[in-house]
Amino acid sequence: MQTDFLVIGSGIAGLTYALKVGSSFPDKTVTIITKTMSDETNTKYAQGGIAGVMDFTTDSFEKHIEDTLIAGDGLCRKEVVELVVKEGVERIQEIIEWGARFDKDNEGEFKLGKEGGHSENRILHHKDITGKEMERALLASIAELENVKIITHGFVLDLITQHHLGYLVTKSTPDIECYGVYMLNINTHEIITIQSKITLLATGGIGQVYRSTTNPSIATGDGIAMVYRAKGRIENMEFIQFHPTALYEPGAKGYSFLITEAVRGDGAILRNDTGEAFMERYDSRKDLAPRDIVARAIDNEMKIHGTEFVYLDCRHMPLEKFIEHFPNIYEKCKSVGIDVSKDMIPVSPAAHYSCGGIKTDEYGRTSIKHLYAAGECASTGLHGANRLASNSLLEAMVFAHRSFVMASRDIHIVNQVPEIPEWNAAGTKAPAEMILITQSKKELKQIMSDYVGIVRTNERLGRAATRLDLLHLETEKLYQRTEVSPALCELRNLITIAYLIVKCAGFRKESRGLHYNTDFPGKGAILQDTIL
Ligand code: FAD
Ligand code: SIN
Repeated sequence: MQTDFLVIGSGIAGLTYALKVGSSFPDKTVTIITKTMSDETNTKYAQGGIAGVMDFTTDSFEKHIEDTLIAGDGLCRKEVVELVVKEGVERIQEIIEWGARFDKDNEGEFKLGKEGGHSENRILHHKDITGKEMERALLASIAELENVKIITHGFVLDLITQHHLGYLVTKSTPDIECYGVYMLNINTHEIITIQSKITLLATGGIGQVYRSTTNPSIATGDGIAMVYRAKGRIENMEFIQFHPTALYEPGAKGYSFLITEAVRGDGAILRNDTGEAFMERYDSRKDLAPRDIVARAIDNEMKIHGTEFVYLDCRHMPLEKFIEHFPNIYEKCKSVGIDVSKDMIPVSPAAHYSCGGIKTDEYGRTSIKHLYAAGECASTGLHGANRLASNSLLEAMVFAHRSFVMASRDIHIVNQVPEIPEWNAAGTKAPAEMILITQSKKELKQIMSDYVGIVRTNERLGRAATRLDLLHLETEKLYQRTEVSPALCELRNLITIAYLIVKCAGFRKESRGLHYNTDFPGKGAILQDTIL
């Protein structure tokens, strides 16, 4: 199969880019691949909203830039922060024109919410299902473009580079080029070679590498792992953001339900099991301190009190207003027997967002030619050591746009894509037993949660590395002899992600932002990026 523009991922980054290239180049083909349904993405689960300076009477670009830099703890690329904050407003206007609806008050002004680390109310939202609404608007606009095709249940296995033409490709090979991807059709089990002139990776997050995560099951870091295998550059993987308040729900399968930070923005208070509003002891910004501080404080309280959760107290909040802003959370709590007007909500931190990823420049270009990356899989320099809440939907749209701008030039200068060999499945057989995959995945999540979570030590990182080596060895052997399946490939990708996190965490001999190592409790001399 051949396409002009190939887009891997149908979240906010992939869809924004596809809509732009599709409408600007009606004579060119755009193919979007997504591994399950077109709307099953991290984007769909985004609750709080999208940050943007909308009210210039109280807010300013300078304030949003400053808040982002403070959260990033000295590692944001300032020029990137400036361009995202300033260009972000145009991107928000654009998605409103494409049909996304954000809540307004009776005067027709946007209702702007507040989240941790923001000095002003600047979060646009659609109740507590903002991502779902944005995804809906993008998919509806894309459906009108005849030249854009979405392949659902297509699992991208690997990027195609000179390596597949028989050349030796290493990290120091100059001008590695991307010619497309190999994709497994999950329904027919066929492996298809897709040649593309320009490819965008928009494969989202990595949360599934941890036992407890807010990310749905698709978030297995496939794009980052593929780039690493293709010898592209990955950076800053030690900075994994744990959301402070996921609903504590023992036995919940797959992922944890999020209680958006906007609930604290509207006045909810964190309490420990003695009822103490403990955030006062940790930070002057109390419950609305940046996420790294709140998550560590909760982790500490849980350890001191020997509990598996703390409480989020919403009992004092006007119920009618709560239901109007957070209908989804209200219903979810009700479904598990929690009446938010009478009961406190048990919450605990869960892996939420990867600040690092595929290294890109300010136009979304990766270290591999004709390969772009945008959204959560990319590391643009916006977040530094810790992402400011609700900056990721904004970043995804800004970099999808910037990738589109550069790809629009690139498309005219791409050489003819060479003849690509078919996928080589020689010597592989159907898997004999799934337990080899499922048990390894469980072990992996256990290792990462116990040793490479919110608080790290050198010894824990060392133990994680040793155990990952074994899992890697066993899984590679299995991969060599087994027909590919999403489960096997996701396990392999997750092991790579775990390796990258542990490796980058080992490089950073200090505690900064989301990376907290008790053997190096203070900040060191500035080490900008950890690159692999
Ligand atoms: P995603 O939306 O995750 O899309 C990834 C796509 O890649 C999917 O279509 C998937 O199928 C596809 N894919 C992955 N691997 C493969 C493969 N091998 N083959 C084929 N397809 C593949 N951010 C905010 O700014 N504000 C918020 O309020 C907010 N709330 C959040 C709440 C939750 C519960 C979560 C989980 C995240 C939240 N975030 C929020 C973060 C934000 O939602 C994500 O960072 C963002 O949506 C990521 O978008 P994306 O386009 O990069 O990837
Ligand atoms: C939330 O709604 O609390 C999540 C916001 C984010 O991850 O940016």
